[in-house]
Amino acid sequence: MPSFTKTILITGGAGFIGSHVVRLFVTKYPDYRIVNLDALTYAGNLQNLTDIETAPNYVFEKVNLLDATELARVFTQYQPDSVIHLAAESHVDRSILSPLDFVYTNVVGTVNLLNVAKTQWSQKTLRQAQGDNPFDNKLFYHVSTDEVYGALGETGLFTEETPYDPHSPYSASKASSDHFVRAYGDTYGLPVVITNCSNNYGPYHFPEKLIPLFINNIITKKPLPVYGDGQYTRDWLFVKDHAIAIDLVFHKGKKGSTYNIGGFNEWKNIDLVKELCRQMDEKLENPVGTSEALITYVKDRPGHDRRYAIDAGKINKELGWEPSVTFEEGLGQTIDWFLSNEEWLKGVTSGAYQHYYEEQYAER
Ligand code: NAD
Ligand code: TYD
Repeated sequence: MPSFTKTILITGGAGFIGSHVVRLFVTKYPDYRIVNLDALTYAGNLQNLTDIETAPNYVFEKVNLLDATELARVFTQYQPDSVIHLAAESHVDRSILSPLDFVYTNVVGTVNLLNVAKTQWSQKTLRQAQGDNPFDNKLFYHVSTDEVYGALGETGLFTEETPYDPHSPYSASKASSDHFVRAYGDTYGLPVVITNCSNNYGPYHFPEKLIPLFINNIITKKPLPVYGDGQYTRDWLFVKDHAIAIDLVFHKGKKGSTYNIGGFNEWKNIDLVKELCRQMDEKLENPVGTSEALITYVKDRPGHDRRYAIDAGKINKELGWEPSVTFEEGLGQTIDWFLSNEEWLKGVTSGAYQHYYEEQYAER
């Protein structure tokens, strides 16, 4: 049985960003034990982690954030010294259809996790009886979104001081969870840190979000539904650069702080879609214009935020982080990954991925 210098509970590790964070930590820190806690909702896919699933410092726990008893069992069993919390309902369109699911997981689930961490970390030990701070060397890291800040006009950037102004049920639930995390810091002294990141893209992205959906639709020759006038702007970041930023904030971020993370990379949706079409045609050796012909303007998303853009100056100045790949490189790598992982994509679009846990894990 190897001994570990740290045990980190990562929630949502079977999802898109979480799987990159789990992979980075498992491979970069063999002396850390990584416990991946995930309910395996439609967005959780253990096939995102097949390359590291047998690593000696990796454990998977199928647990729902709403099950406080199971959360406490996991804490007691593994005694994590830190939490990196990514598990969430994450898709704005779904939040418009089913807001309560977002309240349950993102708000109630986060508070359940905060409660278990606070309770278990503050249990009296011999050290604490002698006056030590129960939260020494502990950290509750919440991974959040820039969408909590609302929408920008043509100019300006979100900073860490921008007031919260969420518009979608998704962003309202994430804003609420951020407030609870800070409240646990202020009220109980729980050491917390929050990062608010812009739109991610990259390998293992679930094909309901703009970039992977459109890649899949181009491959399968389906329409590309652009909402409204297509002039909505997002700031895109390659997911591996987000994982690198999380690693940095986890190890060097100031407790009690917030850091914005962004790609310095704003694109109007329609321009991004045209660039995606151009690269796809090139890689698929299609005649120029083949994919663009699939673009279809459709009814707008209700409450659609016009523009998001992040000022990532604080994390750059304090921790030296900046994106390592350009958007053209990142998008190219993403397309290449999807084209060479069509089995993964087929498994996700057919629903077959949802049986992987029963087939591979339930017996273990
Ligand atoms: P995702 O939807 O791909 O993955 C979410 C994961 O959480 C899934 O594995 C799912 O099974 C798990 N999960 C959901 N409900 C759960 C519950 N009740 N209990 C336990 N596990 C549950 O999401 P993502 O895009 O990887 O985002 C991860 C985190 O990063 C989220 O908190 C999201 O708000 C935040 N974020 C995402 C983006 C983005 O562009 N995707 C940008 C900034 C911040
Ligand atoms: P999305 O990937 O859902 O991320 P978010 O809503 O969290 O920013 O959407 C990115 C942008 O693309 C957003 O402005 C909505 C738009 N969009 C479309 O135009 N068509 C689509 O089919 C989807 C999923 C999104």
